[in-house]
Amino acid sequence: MDVLLAGGTGFIGRNLCSELTDRGHNVTALARDPDPKELPDGVETVMGDVTAYDSIEPAFSEQDVVVNLVALSPLFRPSGGDEMHDRIHRGGTENCLRAAKNNDVDRFVQMSALGADPDGSTHYIRAKGRAEQLVRESDLEWAVLRPSVVFGDGGEFISFTRKLTPPVVAPLPGGGKTKFQPIYVGDLVEIVVATIEDETHTGRTYDIGGPQVLRLADIAKLTRNASGGSVSVLPVPMAAAEVGLKLAGLVPGSPLGADQYRSLQLDNTTDDNDITAFGIDPAELTRLPAYLGVDET
Ligand SMILES: NC(=O)c1ccc[n+]([C@@H]2O[C@H](COP(=O)([O-])OP(=O)(O)OC[C@H]3O[C@@H](n4cnc5c(N)ncnc54)[C@H](OP(=O)(O)O)[C@@H]3O)[C@@H](O)[C@H]2O)c1
Repeated sequence: MDVLLAGGTGFIGRNLCSELTDRGHNVTALARDPDPKELPDGVETVMGDVTAYDSIEPAFSEQDVVVNLVALSPLFRPSGGDEMHDRIHRGGTENCLRAAKNNDVDRFVQMSALGADPDGSTHYIRAKGRAEQLVRESDLEWAVLRPSVVFGDGGEFISFTRKLTPPVVAPLPGGGKTKFQPIYVGDLVEIVVATIEDETHTGRTYDIGGPQVLRLADIAKLTRNASGGSVSVLPVPMAAAEVGLKLAGLVPGSPLGADQYRSLQLDNTTDDNDITAFGIDPAELTRLPAYLGVDET
């Protein structure tokens, strides 16, 4: 198959490029500044910005499947302001859908995120939710994947947790009780490949979680243990964390703001893990402690 990965040079995209080329697909990665040296041999690269339709349209020609992986990280305040989430996630998806339709692309796979909601409480969650709506309203053969946080080499979730967690004593908002269901990038890639190759997934939206639910405090301890240290969590009341992060958001150049505080209050788990739709038993998935090479908490 000819597969276009919009955002194919990112964390999930690079892993997907490897798996798809190994399976004999012709892969093109589109990004604003793609570097072919960072991608597996045989992957074509195309320069384009999803917020500028004319810059991406030619890349959609002759493609069988498009996977939209374009991202603006929710973990840090965007330098162009919070509205960038709408421009890139919703507006970018709108442009990708239009380019796919104009080029008779058969299938469109949207990488969304667990909790995406057009009326959600952060710019990222709302933009992802509105992008999903556009995908479902399109005439294309679509599928939507909504993973919890993803870990693996080159991913930013673990390094972000390390930043939040200084050695010895870590002041975490709400005592780090917020829950996540981290999934290993290699396991997620298997699911994306199945969605690309198997048309029975058309018209489906899947909530995707990893094999275990971990609190932020658990993840903080695991990541510190992995660096040979340990940490005690010092609970910071949510209200104090809100003030701190809002103040940080007002400081020019500060990477955290009010949206990051709100995200840290939202559990990111699913009771109905749709990975079973791919014939995968959650018990077979890679666990975060095993990936980090440490004991379970
Ligand atoms: N990683 C996670 O934990 C996680 C969890 C849930 C959902 N997701 C979703 O999974 C998808 C992929 O995430 P990821 O972690 O792989 O993201 P990532 O590493 O940040 O990669 C983002 C990709 O998008 C490209 N990009 C950004 N802005 C662009 C623009 N305006 N036009 C064209 N390309 C642009 C980037 O390349 P350039 O900067 O060179 O343009 C890069 O290739 C996203 O939809 C994300 O929301 C990720």
